[in-house]
Amino acid sequence: MTETLTHSELVQWLREENPSRLEGLFGWADAVRKEHVGDAVHLRGLIEISNYCSRQCGYCGLRAGNKDLERYRMTADEIVDCAKEAAAYGYGTVVLQAGEDYGIEGEWLADVVRRIKTETPLAVTLSMGERLDEDLVRWREAGADRYLLRFETSDIKLFQLIHPPHPARPPEDRLAILARLRELGYEVGSGVMIGIPGQSYGSLANDLELFHTLDLDMIGVGPYISHPDTPLGDGSWGRPLAPGEQVPNTEAMTYKVVALTRLMCPQANIPSTTALATLNVASGREQGLQRGANVIMPNMTPPKYRALYQIYPAKACISETSGECRVCLQGRIQSIGREVGTGPGGRARG
Ligand code: 5AD
Ligand code: FES
Repeated sequence: MTETLTHSELVQWLREENPSRLEGLFGWADAVRKEHVGDAVHLRGLIEISNYCSRQCGYCGLRAGNKDLERYRMTADEIVDCAKEAAAYGYGTVVLQAGEDYGIEGEWLADVVRRIKTETPLAVTLSMGERLDEDLVRWREAGADRYLLRFETSDIKLFQLIHPPHPARPPEDRLAILARLRELGYEVGSGVMIGIPGQSYGSLANDLELFHTLDLDMIGVGPYISHPDTPLGDGSWGRPLAPGEQVPNTEAMTYKVVALTRLMCPQANIPSTTALATLNVASGREQGLQRGANVIMPNMTPPKYRALYQIYPAKACISETSGECRVCLQGRIQSIGREVGTGPGGRARG
């Protein structure tokens, strides 16, 4: 039932517009999801621990060049308190995410991870960017279970265009970092944005093939959302494609990619992302869950910081408290006949 799709089949599905054929694709992805990871929807509490960033990614509102953004860094106590709140809600995992912030020192974060691992039963996922090897080692030793680093696009030229190297560090290869994370014993997550200006259908199909090749444990895919205070958003960086080649950054395209991701990686944990919910606040998250996804990452960031974590504008749910998010999500999950997962919800194998 789950064979891998070929490159040309992937391109064909990405270009498919026929509603009944698309219903077929979504039903297929939903059946594969049910067979391999079941009906549980795992909740991962997302704590956005700092919005400082030393990088200049062309699409991201946290980029160092964005001088208008007020910056914050959570204290260790604030982070541990949020993690305890997540545990009290019954979430199995917390995800600590930040810009690539070297003001967060390796040993400091190792200590925070150790505290969470000692004081709660939670799995800890880190999403801290392209950090030095010694930090990745130290955090793993401190007990971190998983690491997320999206490769954003497998098109090297496009990646380089939108992602200038760090001014003070040697260029890093995200695929090499992903391999290293696996070697260190992390569960490894990656993913891409859908509809980046300059992203073609063929290149998005390559991304889906790479998900399979890398045998990723977690895969996050969401629409690219234009941020006016970035070079990609204001049109100053760009690589126009021939007509008909550009992937649209739409809700409809995101569902296709979620479904195809499930078919390429039947056992992976796949979130229905906040970026998708931002395009359709009423039901984007539920529809993602019905087209292959099995994870949701409710925001646990303290309300006073939330609005400052502006990766892209108009992010869904920034005005909600963590408690409101929990109640809202539980209702949404039950409304589509699924159940909230219990325990850490690691990657299924076998
Ligand atoms: N639109 C959508 N997603 C974005 N990300 C960063 N900027 C944007 C944007 N403008 C995603 C990237 C990154 C993740 C944390 O957020 O894929 O890896
Ligand atoms: Fe956050 Fe609904 S998911 S308020």
